[in-house]
Amino acid sequence: MAATDLERISNAEPEPRSLSLGGHVGFDSLPDQLVSKSVTQGFSFNILCVGETGIGKSTLMNTLFNTTFETEEASHHEDCVRLRPQTYDLQESNVHLKLTIVDAVGFGDQINKDDSYRPIVDYIDAQFENYLQEELKIRRSLFDYHDTRIHVCLYFITPTGHSLKSLDLVTMKKLDSKVNIIPIIAKADTISKSELHKFKIKIMGELVSNGVQIYQFPTDDEAVAEINAVMNAHLPFAVVGSTEEVKVGNKLVRARQYPWGVVQVENENHCDFVKLREMLIRVNMEDLREQTHSRHYELYRRCKLEEMGFQDSDGDSQPFSLQETYEAKRKEFLSELQRKEEEMRQMFVNKVKETELELKEKERELHEKFEHLKRIHQEEKRKVEEKRRELEEETNAFNCRKAAMEALQSQALHATSQQPLRKDKDKKKPASLRPGPVWLLPVLLR
Ligand code: GTP
Ligand code: MG
Repeated sequence: MAATDLERISNAEPEPRSLSLGGHVGFDSLPDQLVSKSVTQGFSFNILCVGETGIGKSTLMNTLFNTTFETEEASHHEDCVRLRPQTYDLQESNVHLKLTIVDAVGFGDQINKDDSYRPIVDYIDAQFENYLQEELKIRRSLFDYHDTRIHVCLYFITPTGHSLKSLDLVTMKKLDSKVNIIPIIAKADTISKSELHKFKIKIMGELVSNGVQIYQFPTDDEAVAEINAVMNAHLPFAVVGSTEEVKVGNKLVRARQYPWGVVQVENENHCDFVKLREMLIRVNMEDLREQTHSRHYELYRRCKLEEMGFQDSDGDSQPFSLQETYEAKRKEFLSELQRKEEEMRQMFVNKVKETELELKEKERELHEKFEHLKRIHQEEKRKVEEKRRELEEETNAFNCRKAAMEALQSQALHATSQQPLRKDKDKKKPASLRPGPVWLLPVLLR
């Protein structure tokens, strides 16, 4: 036997053996235990209503759950589409249902409808994200977690009798991978029977040709396969909603009364309301919840984890454990961190070097400036010295002249004091030999 065959045999799981029991053991009560646990826990169901303002969303919800939810009317002046969730606790027999109805308020009211689908997609994703975050927590409490993921989107089509609007096609296309879509023709009492038939065919044709995947009632469970297959052929359901009760015969029924007659909501000849209620609530509610978890949420989770770098196998198709992936991611993160740190350190060193060079250059410039100023100062000093010397020389010369003049002056004074004695003699001298007046001396000395 080849080694690989041996390996295959040793790795193969042993086939479980069928044994018969000798008597009653009790695990046949397991389904009952499950039922009882689910009943105690309660259920949650979340419906998203998308359709233009005033199309009959609230009326249909009231009619479906046979109650009054008291929702506000939306205005036609919303800047953008806004999602308004409202949660109610309902009880039927001993079953508790936490029902959330999310209204896409203002849908179709904006002049530019390019992004009308975006708030709806974001809302659905946000609910998936909340669930994923709860799942990824170390201490998870999924048992009592309020699951707000949208289980079904009722898409209200305007009963134009023509075709789908491009807004309907674009929105449904954007939503079909995220939520179970059940398209319904609203206010079906405003369209004639033959027109309605053609309208339904037209809508289905357009959905198929545009690749829009709507929710198909499951046909794999034998118990409901037949009814679901029949109902799939009736899509989209044409519904009428009403909160009025009208007396028909001797019975009070939900209906819309017109001058020409009464449209009974629960009369299958008048509209598909009963089909919708059967399919949505009585037969497929659990499948819608299941599909949301196993198909739509799974897709979101896979994309999100892949985006975060997690994968199930490496390049050689070897299975990866979560821990290994985490370790690999951690290493990758640490080396990235190190690389960034090194980059920053290098940047810092370069910056310091640059600043050092700049400072040196500045220092050199300052030094040059100082030297230049020093030279100018020395030159000035030299000039001042020269001037001082000149001034000193002039002062000396002046002092000499002054002394000479003082000597002359005293001579002159002396001569004047002896004048009377010589008066006569001088009278005989010519005028040029006589001593001059004293006031003439300073003029002479200059
Ligand atoms: P907003 O929440 O304001 O967007 O409106 P809505 O989509 O919830 O519509 P709503 O249920 O408030 O109904 C608006 C009007 O349509 C009311 O006058 C209802 O009586 C009427 N209406 C509701 N359902 C039907 C229907 O099946 N047929 C007809 N003819 N009128 C309906
Ligand atoms: Mg409403």
